[in-house]
Amino acid sequence: KMKVTKICCIGAGYVGGPTMAVIAKKNPHIKVTIVDINQARIDAWNDSDVSKLPIYEPGLAEIVKETRGKNLFFSTEIDKAINESEMIFISVNTPTKTYGKGKGMAADLKYVELCARNIADVAKTDKIVVEKSTLPVRTAQAIKSILDNTGSDVKFDILSNPEFLAEGTAIQDLLNPDRVLIGGESEDAIESLASVYGSWVPQEQILRTNVWSSELSKLTANAFLAQRISSINAISELCEKTEADVDEVAKAIGMDTRIGSKFLKSSVGFGGSCFQKDILNLVYIARSYNLHEVADYWEQVIILNDHQKRRFADNLISTLYNTVSGKKIGFLGWAFKKDTNDTRESAAIYVADHLLNEQANIAVYDPKVSNEKIQSDLNYLNTRSEEENRNLVQATNDPYEALKDAHAVAIMTEWDEFKTYDWKKIYNEMKKPAFIFDGRNILDKSEMEKIGFEYSSIGK
Ligand code: NAD
Ligand code: UDX
Repeated sequence: KMKVTKICCIGAGYVGGPTMAVIAKKNPHIKVTIVDINQARIDAWNDSDVSKLPIYEPGLAEIVKETRGKNLFFSTEIDKAINESEMIFISVNTPTKTYGKGKGMAADLKYVELCARNIADVAKTDKIVVEKSTLPVRTAQAIKSILDNTGSDVKFDILSNPEFLAEGTAIQDLLNPDRVLIGGESEDAIESLASVYGSWVPQEQILRTNVWSSELSKLTANAFLAQRISSINAISELCEKTEADVDEVAKAIGMDTRIGSKFLKSSVGFGGSCFQKDILNLVYIARSYNLHEVADYWEQVIILNDHQKRRFADNLISTLYNTVSGKKIGFLGWAFKKDTNDTRESAAIYVADHLLNEQANIAVYDPKVSNEKIQSDLNYLNTRSEEENRNLVQATNDPYEALKDAHAVAIMTEWDEFKTYDWKKIYNEMKKPAFIFDGRNILDKSEMEKIGFEYSSIGK
């Protein structure tokens, strides 16, 4: 097997950054270079002030501080890093297509293909190419045919090594993975990659499969995880009609070891860059093989999630006497979950959009998300002009200011600090009646009602 001394990772994002930082920390003898076409992002990764890294993840800054400049490097010199490395990870974004065939469903593979062509153009020595991005099953075939038709005699081995980290806990997930999955044809290539992980992951947790199983397992894992959330969210609506309590139901079913207790937290709907994109992709793949029952089955997970976001907004509007026009609504949280600055597909964006259609004014406080980011998330939807978004939505860096004179609080993200606020003070400064819509079920209902709030949550 090939001895790996230098690794290149193309894509300095939420996956490439933390994953390579941990690989570098655990393999001091390997030089790891993360490259990206985005100069601003690379500059931020190289910022001497690690609080300015482009990604917020608990524990990440410390590892970057420890390894950067020793065996971890961030650069825009892509060709150079490809050339000197024996192993190249492709960790670029694979968003849902916004144009052409498969628009709104299929994964856009143009960035992945550009990487493959870039590697094909500049590689002068044999390489192991690792798919780290989440890809449709059988993508390795396309990558292989690009790499095998360069006219040179450079040999490429392709591996699939999907990433299972969750944002907000990325470093812990990387340090203690449930499993590492490696799919490939060449046993030598598989073992080369297994030895990189072997520096800290026990061998029995490194699963070797064929390439196609590995590619499909990633889409399947995300589909199953998201399905659990849509399942409990579907039950939450029934709970609201029947005086059952969704958290009690979740606890009761979760104690059945066959079901398990994790990932059963009812919410305003799942967000993040992965679940929706990967399920849409799975649905698209199933349809492309004419498996319509399979496609419809998984599509329902998305339909239910859209419904959950929508009914949260509708409930807020109808509770506020059927109008939010000109009313201030305070949002606590904009990120798609706690402990991340990532807002991709966050439920907050869609709930806000719906309220803005009803001419609400929204004041947002999120400990890690800037006003600029919030504006760009809303502008991306193209529902109204940038000027209107700017006038109707404002972020503040003080939660009490966001909630002052508000008619309602909408809790969109489960940041721990929200629980510690002085809710009595918030109540006193709000318009009356003062409403709380807890999209994460993080506050205590009886405590809030004792203060005087009209409190509503999910599934109760
Ligand atoms: P990201 O958008 O944060 O990062 C991708 C980076 O790739 C960007 O900085 C972009 O500039 C760069 N890039 C794009 N094309 C390039 C090219 N041709 N050359 C060099 N750089 C290029 O995306 P991410 O969240 O890190 O996700 C990356 C992949 O990992 C996706 O396929 C995603 O589905 C998968 N994934 C993500 C997560 C997650 O939690 N975010 C978890 C598991 C898997
Ligand atoms: C997910 C997968 O968990 C991870 O394995 C994969 O690599 C990438 O996609 P991520 O999207 O970062 O990770 O976060 P995750 O913790 O899965 O949360 C996704 C969304 O579901 C968030 O909006 C979260 O708030 C929501 N969620 C999660 C719930 O509403 N209820 C739950 O019980 C769990």
